[in-house]
Amino acid sequence: MAEVVIVRDADEAGELAADAILALVARKPDAVLGLATGSTPLSVYRAIAARHVDLSRVRGFALDEYVGLPDDHPESYRAVITRDVVGPLGLTPELIAVPGHLGPIETAGEDYEAAIIAAGGIDIQILGLGTDGHIGFNEPGSSFGSLTRVKTLTRRTREDNARFFASIDDVPVNCITQGLGTIRRAGHLLLLAFGASKADAVVAALEGPVTASAPGSAIQLHPHVTVLIDEAAASGLHNVEYYRYAWANKPAWEGL
Ligand code: GLP
Repeated sequence: MAEVVIVRDADEAGELAADAILALVARKPDAVLGLATGSTPLSVYRAIAARHVDLSRVRGFALDEYVGLPDDHPESYRAVITRDVVGPLGLTPELIAVPGHLGPIETAGEDYEAAIIAAGGIDIQILGLGTDGHIGFNEPGSSFGSLTRVKTLTRRTREDNARFFASIDDVPVNCITQGLGTIRRAGHLLLLAFGASKADAVVAALEGPVTASAPGSAIQLHPHVTVLIDEAAASGLHNVEYYRYAWANKPAWEGL
């Protein structure tokens, strides 16, 4: 099962995630990271940036992207990754890929999968969780075997993300996302969620049945998952006592 760590706040989660990511980079300077966007992982990127480690050889693959935004749109995930991740962490722009930007959109999914495989696969995949249970942009109903492809966003996701745009009408309807199958191939999944609005999706992902109706539940099929959540996001879970007990008794030699 996933290791579930209930943290004080996003900053504590960011420090723990940074520990795991920088331990990986120390072992493997050209490690391959799966980079999530959205508000959730920002504390991870802040914590990593504050440690001033040389990350110039690290390679990265963004989790998802809108389809249909102009190339220079400030809310494209390519722009967000450049602004919030590549710059502050000192990553090398040429080593960071974003789906939908490698060639024609018709073959963008296959091209992205081929690039991930050529890089040797993703070592650590950072994940947020949508209020409707999505990971990446894999909306409810997405196949557990799905690979990177163009998808259609739910109304709820477009409403959630409207805060980044002038209005919901400006939020693209289409997106391209790593599939649940792509995510399941990564070596280690780091899933983060904060706030009461994520509580239902957290229960569905961690303790609900494994079902395409709750895409986050795909993590239950993965052998190495760390879930970093605050009290509010953990508020609906049944096994909280065990998660705390397991974390408190974690062998000192074992990293995340
Ligand atoms: C967005 C992104 C996801 C993200 C999720 C949660 O739509 N495509 O990758 O994890 O929804 O977003 P946030 O972290 O802003 O709550």
